[in-house]
Amino acid sequence: MRIILGIESSCDETAVALVREDRTVLAHALATQLEEHAPYGGVVPEIAARAHLAQIDRLYSKAMADAGLNLEQVDAVAATTGPGLIGGVIVGAMFGKSLAAAANKPFIAINHLEGHALTLRLTDEAQFPYFLLLVSGGHCQMLVVHGVGNYTRLGGTKDDALGEAFDKCAKMLGLGYPGGPAVEKAALGGTPRFAFPRPLMGTDGCDFSFSGLKTAVRLRIEKETATRALDAALIADIAASFQAAVIAVTQDRVTRGLAMARALAPITAMAVAGGVAANKALGEGLKNIAAEAGLPLLIAPRELCTDNAIMIAWAGMERLQLGRTDGLDTEPRARWPLAELT
Ligand code: KG4
Ligand code: ZN
Repeated sequence: MRIILGIESSCDETAVALVREDRTVLAHALATQLEEHAPYGGVVPEIAARAHLAQIDRLYSKAMADAGLNLEQVDAVAATTGPGLIGGVIVGAMFGKSLAAAANKPFIAINHLEGHALTLRLTDEAQFPYFLLLVSGGHCQMLVVHGVGNYTRLGGTKDDALGEAFDKCAKMLGLGYPGGPAVEKAALGGTPRFAFPRPLMGTDGCDFSFSGLKTAVRLRIEKETATRALDAALIADIAASFQAAVIAVTQDRVTRGLAMARALAPITAMAVAGGVAANKALGEGLKNIAAEAGLPLLIAPRELCTDNAIMIAWAGMERLQLGRTDGLDTEPRARWPLAELT
C-alpha cells in the first residue's frame, strides 16, 4: 500500500503528514502561528513565511519519527503550491520538491482548495459528484466536485469570506484572533435579539456578501456602547445575532446552490469544508436542507476542517492513483481558482 508525505504552508499553519492508501493517518505534525499573528489581529504574510521556515524541518523530522518511516518508504511527496500567501507557499513547495529530488520520488503539486474539497473522500468516502460549500478565512464558494481536478464554481462571495467575517466580528467585539471559534463560543450564551441584515438573501444565484453585515455589527456596537459598557452579556447577544444572520443567509444560499448543482450533475452528498465547517451551529442549520434534499450531510471533524497536511497528503494520494504527478518546475501560485484546475 502506498504512502504519501503531505506538506501544508499556505496560511498560518505549518504541517507535515503521512497518509497511507487505506486512509490511515500514520503521522501528523502541525504548528500553528496563532501567537505570532495575534497581536496584529490577522495573519501577517512576512511573519508567516519566516515562521514556516523556522518550523518545517522540525515538523518533517517529527512526522517521520512518529510514523517510524524513512524517506525511502514514502511513495510520493505532495505539497501545497497555492493558492495562499506566496512566501509561505514557496517555503512548503521548495521543501517538498527538495525531498522529492533527493529521494528520487514523484512530486505532486496540490491546490490547497482541492485539499479541503477532497477531505470528505478521506473521512466519509464521498462519491463524485458531490456538492461542496467551501468556507474558510480566505475562501467562500459553492462548487460541484465532479472528480479530481474537475470542479464547477456555482457562486461565491462578492466581498469578505465567511471566516473573515467571523474574524472581523470577533475583532470588533474584542474577542481576539482567530475569531470564528470565539464568536461561536460567545454566541452560545447570548440571545439573537438584534435584527442584523441578511445580505443577498432571496436573490437569484448563490453568491454571498458580508460587508453590509459587518457594518451593521459595527454600528450596533457604537450605538450600544454610547450608553453602556461592552460587557460579556452584550458581546454574547451581538455574537448570537451575527451568527443567526450568517446562518440564515447560508441556509438560503445553500438551498439555491444545491438546486443549481442538481441541475448540472447527479449529486450524491452535501459536503461542507474549510475552517468555518467547524462551526456546530452552522452544521445544525444545514441539517434540514440536506435531509429535505435526501442527501447525506458530510462535515469533516474539526482537525480536518481547519488547515492541515492530512488533506494535502490525501489529495496527493488521489492524484497518484490517477498517475498525475508534477514536474519540479511547477511554480507556486498566490491565486489559483479551483475551476482552473486540471
Ligand atoms: O481553513 P482555515 O483553517 O484557513 C483558511 O484557509 O482560511 O480556516 C480558518 C477560518 C478562520 O477565519 C476562522 O475564524 C474560521 O475558519 N473558523 C471558524 C470556526 N473555526 C474556525 N468560523 C466559525 N466558527 C468556528 N467554529
Ligand atoms: Zn484552508
